[in-house]
Amino acid sequence: MIELTHSLNKKMADRYLYDRYDKFSEENLPSEYFSLDDDSIRVDIPQDETKIKKLMDEVMCLIYMEPDNPYNYHTTYASARGFNSNEIVLEIVGNHSRKIFIYNLTQNEFDLISREKCNEVSFVANMYIICNRGKIGRKYGDFGYILSLLDAGHFIENIKCFSIEEKLSFTLDYNPCTSIDMLRLPKPYQIVPLVKLDITDFFVKKQENLWDNENVNKVKFSDTYTGNKSGSLVDQFIDKVLESKVPIVEKFSNIRTSVKVKELLMRTSSQSAQGYSFFPYECPDDVLDEIIDSVKLSLADVTDDLICVQLVMNTDSVRVYEIKRDHVNTKELNDIDMNSLPHDSLDYVDLKNVSVGVIMYTNCKLYEMNEIWYQYTYIKMGEIAQRISNICGTKELSARPMKNMNDLYMKNRLMESDSYDPGYFIVIGKSMNDSLKMLMR
Ligand SMILES: Cc1cc2nc3c(=O)[nH]c(=O)nc-3n(C[C@H](O)[C@H](O)[C@H](O)COP(=O)(O)O)c2cc1C
Repeated sequence: MIELTHSLNKKMADRYLYDRYDKFSEENLPSEYFSLDDDSIRVDIPQDETKIKKLMDEVMCLIYMEPDNPYNYHTTYASARGFNSNEIVLEIVGNHSRKIFIYNLTQNEFDLISREKCNEVSFVANMYIICNRGKIGRKYGDFGYILSLLDAGHFIENIKCFSIEEKLSFTLDYNPCTSIDMLRLPKPYQIVPLVKLDITDFFVKKQENLWDNENVNKVKFSDTYTGNKSGSLVDQFIDKVLESKVPIVEKFSNIRTSVKVKELLMRTSSQSAQGYSFFPYECPDDVLDEIIDSVKLSLADVTDDLICVQLVMNTDSVRVYEIKRDHVNTKELNDIDMNSLPHDSLDYVDLKNVSVGVIMYTNCKLYEMNEIWYQYTYIKMGEIAQRISNICGTKELSARPMKNMNDLYMKNRLMESDSYDPGYFIVIGKSMNDSLKMLMR
């Protein structure tokens, strides 16, 4: 049993890092995913009774579109290819009823999809971030699962920002798989709950009978999953995660952040159809210090030494800051080719003048001990990436998270410890690529 767990984690690490570019073509990408009916019934959330509406308007909804750009949807948080493929599900329980809603990004509304009787009496509100494998898988196959974990982290970080400003506390469970039956959603392998946020505190008045009079949607889920039939490595891994009942719960209240909610709008990864390149610009020391501090703060939340973060600056020589928990080491290297950090892609990308490259590594020795660590670590890296990106936004710097990274080059040239595998990458700088934006508000 333990052997299997260990080997699955190891296989996941290898399959979705070093080996992934070779084997993508073997995958059968899913073509169908569930969708809401056009005539679905939307729920008007009363402003004075809940902070959900404010959260939707300030953090969750679309902020602009770029019609000429294949990556055209933009929210306050980054998401792989701008797909925003994770589903956000809201569960309201109390007064002997359970109501389930799905967030509809294009309408910025929650759609009521199920209501049923239950035994619970007191008011509880949970938000779930759910990986919709069919949706992300249309482009990325099983690798989409890893991107969904990172996406979830980006979203969580901005909820943290919101909750700090609104003085709300919430609890996060990074292993909510036991709750899936309650959600009345299609079963795995299509849908995987990644994180549960207990946001009961976001409801000013705890009104159990909220939305009791609303009609439930005629929502249709397509239950034909046309991707890999069960048995792929990710399927086996998800099975293992679903079996593991150990909750990983963290409570957030009064954590520090220098970024205000209205400043989240300033974040950009400068996605553009023209590609991505930079003006020469040396990152000022105070900005670097702020980034280092924020990484230390984020790592303080992370269990053990699961994540190590390197900041790489290529000026006259190459300077590397390596952060593990609250410990920062610096080293100088002779040569690093910033253009070798990403993996080849079809986009035009020139990283010669990048101000800072941020590389996050996962401690593969540690996460092999428990199957859920792999999932947890990737979500956490998304949180850190969003936190750094938000700071950059306030400094008029572009920050692009990239999963398309040259893992072998990073591992061989920058990381001395065998225990760490590269996991996620951000490039920061003064971008040359301004895009045509269509503001939504
Ligand atoms: C998990 C994740 C992986 C990403 N990988 C890449 C990548 O490999 N290459 C790239 O150019 N952009 C990558 N991006 C950037 C997204 O494409 C970008 O965030 C999205 O298009 C929205 O644009 P915005 O961040 O400017 O709002 C990634 C973003 C996320 C969250």
